Amino acid sequence: MHQDIKKILVTQEAIEQKCIELGAIISHDYQDKDLVVIGLLKGCIPFISDLVKHISIPLRLDYMSVSSYHGGTASTGNVRVNKDLDASVTGCDVLIAEDIVDTGKTLKKVMEMLSVKGANSIKVVTLLDKPEGRVVDLIPDYTGFIIPKEFVVGYGLDYDEYYRNLPYVGVLKEEVYTK
Ligand code: IMP
Repeated sequence: MHQDIKKILVTQEAIEQKCIELGAIISHDYQDKDLVVIGLLKGCIPFISDLVKHISIPLRLDYMSVSSYHGGTASTGNVRVNKDLDASVTGCDVLIAEDIVDTGKTLKKVMEMLSVKGANSIKVVTLLDKPEGRVVDLIPDYTGFIIPKEFVVGYGLDYDEYYRNLPYVGVLKEEVYTK
């Protein structure tokens, strides 16, 4: 285990198994659909990479990069698009792949943007869900693990851009924040 990690919340083995399960369910649900899996950079990378290996139907991959700035008040959920999709999603069945859903604000905005682009359907698969943090009405369609309202890193999730490369999801030691 990395020296800065207090405890492992989701092991590498559990993530691998979950990607197999989610891949099978998604392959079944999207038979005969025009599936586009959209990753939100950068946190999605390990998850989307492992997940799509277990989706057995034809699909296309695309990526968006967005920054959230909640404007100091809890109610604003503005999102700036740093990198938009490469291809049109009009008429497509979009599945957004996220590392974690917390307040849900980022995802809600992205879903609104995609619906304006004319997607046929828009669903969400997330590796982790922190339902206690939710401030908007959003329930992911496919969830890997429900976790408590703790700040986690690893498997794509960062603290100050570090720890994304850890193969598991863990909780950071307090002294790392107070260094
Ligand atoms: P939301 O709009 O609050 O749902 O924001 C979700 C985004 O916040 C995720 O895509 C992550 O980038 C980030 N985030 C939320 N919780 C955590 C965490 O525990 N660790 C690292 N990043 C997190």
